[in-house]
Amino acid sequence: MKDRIVTTSLSEEDLDTDMKLRPDSFDGYIGQEKAKSNMKVFIEAAKRRNEALDHVLLYGQPGLGKTTMSAIIAKMMNSTMKTTSGPAIERPGDMASILNDLSEGDILFIDEIHRLNRMIEEILYPAMEDYVLDIVIGKGPSAKSIRLDLPKFTLIGATTRIGLLTAPLRDRFGVIHHLEPYTVDELKKILARSAKVFQVELSDEGSEEIARRSRGTPRIANRMLKRVRDFAQVKHSGVISLEVACESLDALDVDPMGLDVLDKKLMLAIIQKFGGGPVGLDTLAAAVDEEADTIEDVSEPYLIQLGFLQRTPRGRISTDLGYNHFGLKRQ
Ligand code: ADE
Repeated sequence: MKDRIVTTSLSEEDLDTDMKLRPDSFDGYIGQEKAKSNMKVFIEAAKRRNEALDHVLLYGQPGLGKTTMSAIIAKMMNSTMKTTSGPAIERPGDMASILNDLSEGDILFIDEIHRLNRMIEEILYPAMEDYVLDIVIGKGPSAKSIRLDLPKFTLIGATTRIGLLTAPLRDRFGVIHHLEPYTVDELKKILARSAKVFQVELSDEGSEEIARRSRGTPRIANRMLKRVRDFAQVKHSGVISLEVACESLDALDVDPMGLDVLDKKLMLAIIQKFGGGPVGLDTLAAAVDEEADTIEDVSEPYLIQLGFLQRTPRGRISTDLGYNHFGLKRQ
């Protein structure tokens, strides 16, 4: 069970630099001003009353800093954070065991909480509301239910899809925050800090170019910075100028508006294979050979934000802006 609790797929080295890129206090955390200022009040209030912080739900696109924010909350509460994810918890017994391992004041972080199954969710309801764990022992007529007290803990749930959370689960969070995409200026501040960690010289124009192409997402901005640094060091003098940034990002198939290969494939499939739409998500997923979930969580939010794509009850359609971006005309 223990090795289930911390789940990660990054190598040691990636994890190491990844950790250094993440701020460890709200002072170093750029953007999300509303969530930060509200959280500071709730944390201060809970500490003054010597209580556990109320349960928190953070939602927003992948890479906007939900895990980072949770780690900062845990640190400010002087709490230990235990991390798991919805898909990692397969059986009710797994959830019971995780809850049973918690200590007073701990933070339990559940990533992708929308992927918990219903039976597991039902264990969470009394745990969140009354800090108790109801366990059924045995089967059939002789089955008995026993109730165990749990320490006062805080659940922080993170999700990219708040609409997939059941109402009873959503309603048990006392605090719900939506993390927003970052502005170019905010991303430039994040990139400046990351460039220091990577010890690479980043010009203002180079930074602006990376920020503009990173679709409002710090994780994407930092990933691009790493790759652009490779180009700068191998093919140039090591400095990330505007030219170096443009050349590298073009080579990585990230277009000037930040569309990547999948975004382009998706838009071109709608336009060229399905006459501009409407086309259903599953058909589209098959046409571009990608998971429907990835299309919905990763590509579509940005394409919708840009006004290139619309979701309609009959399927996805390309807007005129979508056509224009690819220099194509509606038939
Ligand atoms: N690195 C990743 N996300 C960040 C943020 N919101 N602020 C500062 N650095 C970050």
